Amino acid sequence: MGFEGGAAGVGPDTSKASIARVYDMFLGGKDNFAVDREVYEAIQAVSPHGDDVAKSIRRWLIRVVRHLAGFEVGIGQFLDIGSGLPTVDNTHEVAQRHNPDATVVYVDNDATVAAYGRALMEENDHTHFATSDLRDPAALLATPQVAKLDFSQPMVLIQCATLHHVDDDADPAAFMRRYADALPSGSYLAISHWWDPREELPEGHRMARELEQRWRESSMATGRYRTREEITELFGGLELVEPGLVELNDWWPDGPGMREPSLVERLILGGVAYKP
Ligand SMILES: C[S@@+](CC[C@H](N)C(=O)[O-])C[C@H]1O[C@@H](n2cnc3c(N)ncnc32)[C@H](O)[C@@H]1O
Repeated sequence: MGFEGGAAGVGPDTSKASIARVYDMFLGGKDNFAVDREVYEAIQAVSPHGDDVAKSIRRWLIRVVRHLAGFEVGIGQFLDIGSGLPTVDNTHEVAQRHNPDATVVYVDNDATVAAYGRALMEENDHTHFATSDLRDPAALLATPQVAKLDFSQPMVLIQCATLHHVDDDADPAAFMRRYADALPSGSYLAISHWWDPREELPEGHRMARELEQRWRESSMATGRYRTREEITELFGGLELVEPGLVELNDWWPDGPGMREPSLVERLILGGVAYKP
């Protein structure tokens, strides 16, 4: 069921598109307004494979959480910042499938996520949701929900497809260093981020420029395709684990690649860093 028909003036702002709702559309969700659909259409007009991007982001997140919660690493705390609307295989479902005692704290600043997502995401005593702005690490880390995490034990901090919605003037490299500094020893930081490949992939560079313009001109008015070097800086000086910062489908795939990714699907990199 969608949101259409909700009482005017109550709940989320429907005069401009919401990042969370537009992203949910790419994942096949139904919870959106006309203003979100306009952005979705404008992006699909540049490349009709936007849904593949959202699916490969979700598949990457699932592989990362499964690896870090599971037998190999066994981390029991996850801080998923910019969690988005609940969808298939949410972080807590994947983490708790592999580590039933894992605590998961979700954070988002989107009113739709807070209004409609909280109940679904806070489905057990180990799972919590906080409303906070990721650009302010001190305030976010001080929320009562995040304070439920034990900062003397390793944790996983996730920024999945979030930081490309942060403009340069908010200095994401600086605030990400503050998150990295706050992480206990033995923790991991996972980031996926839109990529401008420049000369590494010239046709991808052209598409990244065009997509960025469409996102920024939309009512969402956000979106930055950053270079490999700029994305690397967001790891706050922590060391990337194998295979480094790579196209999402190349980060420990589940099996042999059975199809060529579309160009737009290649315009996002992911990596996981470790804090010794
Ligand atoms: C593209 S969605 C990704 C959702 C989820 N991480 C995933 O991979 O499925 C980006 C999310 O980041 C959230 N977000 C963007 N800017 C934010 C901010 N300044 N503070 C908190 N959350 C933010 C949006 O509301 C949205 O839910």
